[in-house]
Amino acid sequence: MGAKIRVGILFGGKSAEHEVSLQSAMNVFDALDRGKYEPVLIGIDKTGRWFLNDRARFLFNVSDPERIALNTANDSVALTPESGGVLSNLTGGREGPVLDVVFPILHGPFGEDGTVQGLLKLADIPFVGAGVLGSAAGMDKDVMKRLLRDAGIPIGRFRALKAGSPLPSFTELRAELGLPLFVKPANMGSSVGINKVGGEDELAAAVRDAFEYDRKIIIEEFIPGRELECSVLGNENPIASLPGEVASSHEFYSYDAKYLDEKGAVLTIPADIPDDKVKEIQALAVKTFQALECEGLSRVDFFMKGSGDILVNEINTMPGFTKISMYPKLWEASGVPYPVLIDRLIDLAFDRYRQEKRLRTSFSL
Ligand SMILES: Nc1ncnc2c1ncn2[C@@H]1O[C@H](COP(=O)(O)OP(=O)(O)O)[C@@H](O)[C@H]1O
Ligand SMILES: [Mg+2]
Repeated sequence: MGAKIRVGILFGGKSAEHEVSLQSAMNVFDALDRGKYEPVLIGIDKTGRWFLNDRARFLFNVSDPERIALNTANDSVALTPESGGVLSNLTGGREGPVLDVVFPILHGPFGEDGTVQGLLKLADIPFVGAGVLGSAAGMDKDVMKRLLRDAGIPIGRFRALKAGSPLPSFTELRAELGLPLFVKPANMGSSVGINKVGGEDELAAAVRDAFEYDRKIIIEEFIPGRELECSVLGNENPIASLPGEVASSHEFYSYDAKYLDEKGAVLTIPADIPDDKVKEIQALAVKTFQALECEGLSRVDFFMKGSGDILVNEINTMPGFTKISMYPKLWEASGVPYPVLIDRLIDLAFDRYRQEKRLRTSFSL
């Protein structure tokens, strides 16, 4: 057997979804086949600094999943342009380990939005998941919805609002979008900064809250119905898993329902829906993935109304990746176990990298 593939697991991050990422990273680290891979843990703290971690000092309080936190008492590292995956060790001045591929298990801005993907491209290193364009388009709910609309994919009505522009009146919003409204930061995830607005008295606070997280927000019509999710895997020829269902016991699938309240949501895998709806969702999931120029993996989330009509809510280009997360669970139910899924994602990262390497970077007659 040849040398092991060194996989950089990039996790944490300057994001409201920092803690979620720690959980996913720990699971991927544990599941990587040590006969084939050598994982290197790189934790990013909440200010954006990178640290080399080892398993023993990986996280504080690993025994208590509710309280895990990044251990920053480690060497600080960085990736520089054209380093080819050689980590610079900023603490000791020595060169760090050479990475063959990076798995950026980062959620939200500064991780899932194309920024880290751009850095990895400049460093000339293969990485798992969507590239710069797909990540950015998938992260910005306004741009995402405009591209989906252009592709003829069914979505709810919405309107985007930039900071500094006048807020439409409640009457105008009610006439255009009905009630209740959903107000969200354009770039965020894990339901952070999202509020459901039932009346005029709640609008201003919801708008203010959303603007805490982004300079652009979106206001959406409320879609009543079931929430279904579908996993997509691949580059040029993506495939879709069986769909799953999330039933939240809260007002909506909020941050608390997702991560804090153990009984906040029930996942049904696969979802109990008719075969024709399974096929419709799978086709829409692949179409969404392609319309948004995604690669590697994504989870596409849907609403199914009482009438059976299906609308796309959003895409997540780096979905939660713990063993009990929807994305890997759906693949498991579709015949792809967790370690095989990780293998496949790493292969897809190398495939794309090789293809990009074949492109010319200079022009001559
Ligand atoms: N337009 C909507 N109608 C009904 N429920 C919604 C709507 N938008 C969001 N929600 C609820 O809020 C949750 C989070 O919204 P979502 O757009 O998926 O944001 P995030 O990217 O943070 O997950 C959804 O899972 C759903 O429960
Ligand atoms: Mg969501």
